[in-house]
Amino acid sequence: MAQGLPLHVLITCLLLVPSSQIQQQESFTSIVISQQGLDFLKNLLITKAISSIIPLKLPNIAKTAKLPVLGNVHILLSNITIYQLQVMNSYVKPGDTGLAIIASGTTCNLSMDWSYDYSSWFLPVEISDKGHASVQVEGMEVGLTLGLKNQEGTLKLSLVDCGCYVKDISIKVDGGASWLYQGMIDAFEEQIESAVENAITKNIGEGILKLDSLLQSLPKEIPVDDNASINVTFVENPSLTNSSVGFDINGLFTARKKVPIPRYYHTNLEPSVLCTEPTKMLGISLDEAVFNSASVLYYDAKFMQWIVDKIPDQALLNTAGWRFIVPQLYKKYPNDDMNMNISLSSPPILRISEHNIDATIYADLIIDVLEADQVISVACISLVIRGSGSVGIAGNNLVGSVKLNDFSMSLKWSSIGNLRMYLIQPLMWTIIHTVFLPYANAHLAKGFPLPIIHGFTVQNAETIFSKSAVTVCGDVEFRDS
Ligand SMILES: *[C@@H]1O[C@H](CO)[C@@H](O)[C@H](O)[C@H]1NC(C)=O
Ligand SMILES: *[C@@H]1O[C@H](CO)[C@@H](O)[C@H](O)[C@H]1NC(C)=O
Ligand SMILES: *[C@@H]1O[C@H](CO)[C@@H](O)[C@H](O)[C@H]1NC(C)=O
Ligand SMILES: *[C@@H]1O[C@H](CO)[C@@H](O)[C@H](O)[C@H]1NC(C)=O
Ligand SMILES: *[C@@H]1O[C@H](CO)[C@@H](O)[C@H](O)[C@H]1NC(C)=O
Ligand SMILES: *[C@@H]1O[C@H](CO)[C@@H](O)[C@H](O)[C@H]1NC(C)=O
Repeated sequence: MAQGLPLHVLITCLLLVPSSQIQQQESFTSIVISQQGLDFLKNLLITKAISSIIPLKLPNIAKTAKLPVLGNVHILLSNITIYQLQVMNSYVKPGDTGLAIIASGTTCNLSMDWSYDYSSWFLPVEISDKGHASVQVEGMEVGLTLGLKNQEGTLKLSLVDCGCYVKDISIKVDGGASWLYQGMIDAFEEQIESAVENAITKNIGEGILKLDSLLQSLPKEIPVDDNASINVTFVENPSLTNSSVGFDINGLFTARKKVPIPRYYHTNLEPSVLCTEPTKMLGISLDEAVFNSASVLYYDAKFMQWIVDKIPDQALLNTAGWRFIVPQLYKKYPNDDMNMNISLSSPPILRISEHNIDATIYADLIIDVLEADQVISVACISLVIRGSGSVGIAGNNLVGSVKLNDFSMSLKWSSIGNLRMYLIQPLMWTIIHTVFLPYANAHLAKGFPLPIIHGFTVQNAETIFSKSAVTVCGDVEFRDS
């Protein structure tokens, strides 16, 4: 049977899963699916459900009908198949007990084979015949309520109740006698109706189980790169209003190598999702703690550190270029090549306000002289770089960039005496602009994935800043893989 994954992809989709206890836990990313988003998912669900259950075989129906004159006739309906199912109207509504989905005005078309035989006292032989019949079912109503719960950090989907009611059927028999036609209607109408109702209800139940196991099997963490992943553990139960479903997830960056990372963020519970356009399907709010957890993680992974040995004005990477800025350096190491070793001295700190993202970056820049095979560190300058960030969406990733607002510097240590900082300042400015920012922006341009289920893509997204959170509002599109 072409029984793919009934009622598959669906409703709560857009979400990821995971593990842990339901206690008062912190959530740093909130996801809200609006009525528009629920409608989209409901339509997707119905389309998927229909294509996965059609053609649907129903059990044979056998019956002995007592007909005037003829007496007992044994009729068998076999190969009963629903080959078309159409939903005219449907809607989804969040409520107290869960998500209600109603499909009304549904029609379906069945084909079947019939056969009969009878014998009676006045006939010497048994009479039999067979043929084909088609059945149209109209005005079918299908309703179901889905329960959504947090079960140890994963989302548990259950079928709270489900009903299918057939209003009217019409049977058309190809061939056969008129008594047969009448007999079929009288004897089989109810049985075909309930066979259809049972089959649809049973398939919905099976579909929801599959959908639930799909949700349970979603990864607990979304990998960002070799070093980091995002914790998508659900925190608390989904919240249902009369026009949206909200989910809170942990949302923080965690190290893939499971090195515990220190906390560098203040506790902020459940950022609120603010989409100004109510027609957007989806809103995802990320607290600034998410960004700061990334900052702590990458700082900890020690890869925010690099050696600068190429700059636009290469003469400045030789002590000769510093002759007038730091004469004692040239004197001590004449005409030696140099490089700069930049490393962060603490994790960058991000603050999100209604208007922008501010980043403060603390870096140490060590001036190295390369003499013979030796690297001699001669001075260290501490930098505090203040920038402002912007964010955007590329595919399903939140990407960013940073630009310089200002920076300050101080001498941390030196083995070549005091440096006149105001003379070094223009050089630092050049290094920040031509080396540091392009490096940071190359990383930020890759961004990190939003918690969105595989197959769905964010469309027409916009980002909104609020106090301590960034909200991504957008629509989604589904693409089968
Ligand atoms: C069942 O019905 C379908 C559609 O009418 C037909 O193609 C198929 O051959 C039938 N199968 C059997 C076993 O009669
Ligand atoms: C299926 O049934 C509907 C009415 O219930 C009818 O309008 C339609 O023509 C039927 N389709 C086929 C392919 O028989
Ligand atoms: C992961 O961290 C290591 C250092 O621990 C670094 O060399 C590597 O580039 C990082 N990978 C990514 C994708 O950032
Ligand atoms: C949804 O609830 C709000 C109050 O929580 C109410 O103002 C609004 O009318 C309700 N909408 C519908 C469609 O029931
Ligand atoms: C992921 O988040 C959950 C819920 O906040 C938490 O209990 C769990 O420890 C986190 N996992 C990791 C690896 O940080
Ligand atoms: C760069 O400086 C850091 C911090 O002082 C140090 O740990 C690292 O070894 C230096 N790297 C090189 C290649 O000199």
